[in-house]
Amino acid sequence: MTFDYKVKDLSLAEAGRHQIRLAEHEMPGLMALRAEFGESKPLAGARIAGSLHMTVQTAVLIETLTALGAEVRWASCNIFSTQDEAAAAVVVGNGTPEDPQGVPVFAWKGETLEEYWWTAEQILTWPGADTNPELGPNMILDDGGDATLLVHKGVEFEAAGAVPAAAAEDPEEYRIILDLLRASLAANPNKWTGIAGRLLGVTEETTTGVHRLYQLAEQGKLLFPAINVNDSVTKSKFDNKYGIRHSLPDGLNRATDVLMGGKVAVVCGYGDVGKGAAEALRGQGARVVVTEIDPICALQAAMDGYQVTTLDKVVGEGHIFITTTGNKDVIMASDMVKMRDKAIVGNIGHFDNEIDMAGLAQVEGVKKIEIKPQVHEWVFDAGTEMERSIIVLSEGRLLNLGNATGHPSFVMSNSFANQTIAQIELFTKAGTGEYAKQVYVLPKILDEKVARLHLAALGVELTELTKEQAEYLDVDVAGPFKPDHYRY
Ligand code: NAI
Repeated sequence: MTFDYKVKDLSLAEAGRHQIRLAEHEMPGLMALRAEFGESKPLAGARIAGSLHMTVQTAVLIETLTALGAEVRWASCNIFSTQDEAAAAVVVGNGTPEDPQGVPVFAWKGETLEEYWWTAEQILTWPGADTNPELGPNMILDDGGDATLLVHKGVEFEAAGAVPAAAAEDPEEYRIILDLLRASLAANPNKWTGIAGRLLGVTEETTTGVHRLYQLAEQGKLLFPAINVNDSVTKSKFDNKYGIRHSLPDGLNRATDVLMGGKVAVVCGYGDVGKGAAEALRGQGARVVVTEIDPICALQAAMDGYQVTTLDKVVGEGHIFITTTGNKDVIMASDMVKMRDKAIVGNIGHFDNEIDMAGLAQVEGVKKIEIKPQVHEWVFDAGTEMERSIIVLSEGRLLNLGNATGHPSFVMSNSFANQTIAQIELFTKAGTGEYAKQVYVLPKILDEKVARLHLAALGVELTELTKEQAEYLDVDVAGPFKPDHYRY
């Protein structure tokens, strides 16, 4: 079998396969879904365009989707997050590097932005689909919403009959998207409308991507149904928090190996990700300071024992700065020039606009030194008495995936079990009228199911409600146990 793919090096496949095998052991949720649905294959006929960090854990997700009958094409949702050995193993599948038999993957660590958007186009461009649109994708699995954005922008410009010129203030990345769509419109003026017309739905992994989906739905512009996987409790209250608690220190250690104990660590944002980040840094003995804009989260941080103040007040004091907000312009160049010598600056939110990298590059006389890939020293006032520098991780992109390997398998098993269930839900219920062009969360009973699948591996023994207790609480003995408004 020959198929198209682009990864770094297929000879890494064996190393990737060993890691995938160990990850499977730590991903009981996904393995249970393979056991439950491997025979009935509810995803037979699903053609999934996947855009999510191409890690070892994602490899287990991809192979779960194919075990359930899906065909898949995959790209990473970040230029630095691919683990090349995992990508190679997924392409090779049951074959050999000379005769790969797995899944088409388009991902390697260290893509340029042009290459990144090319890979996004590849997962939506299926062989034969230009002459037979039935062969194109019918599902998207997204993380951050870039695949969804490409389809929506493509449809918008096809309807307008032209792709607009970039405005002067548009970021470089938007120019790249416009150029790509201009070329695709010239080659096939109906490409994106054709793709969108066949898409049965998208399942979205993260806070930032979910935010984009709700915006589209509110404007009446969402082109297909969406499931918000992020807000399954077993996703955001686990991956975003406990995943970060593990992978933030992992990224800091691999990048810098700096001792966190005794240092002042500033965490911007105290949502789910910020809570995990602050706990991890405190666990290492750092004195953690939190910044927040939301009075509820600020109060939570204070009650959890953290100093809460503004960035301005601690900018000269912090040794480590981590942004976790999903917002833009959180740490600006004007902040970075005030930091102490060798302060470490990193972002763990989805996009790189939390830290003003463009402004940093424009600071007068600034010098950038590569310490190693994804670790850069930015020197201010070089050669003068005032010389000092800061260390920026992963060029402002999410450092837990750029400098380390992202969240560990066990927590991702929860997230990806939700993804798999959400794909089954949208694909098998397409055409029933159950899902409109809106954003949905999975029913609580399925959220509880995902948690249940992970209990045995940790030796958790669950107390069972008696019939009388269940009646007293007005719930079913088998769940769901909480009303939808319960916050955990
Ligand atoms: P969230 O909405 O729960 O938390 C973000 C917090 O930042 C909110 O409490 C908000 O009030 C606060 N905030 C917003 N602007 C701020 C500002 N200027 N200064 C200080 N605080 C500010 O979102 P969540 O789930 O914590 O996700 C945060 C980001 O992390 C998102 O971009 C999400 O997609 C991403 N993410 C990254 C992961 C990773 O592996 N690196 C994993 C999960 C999520």
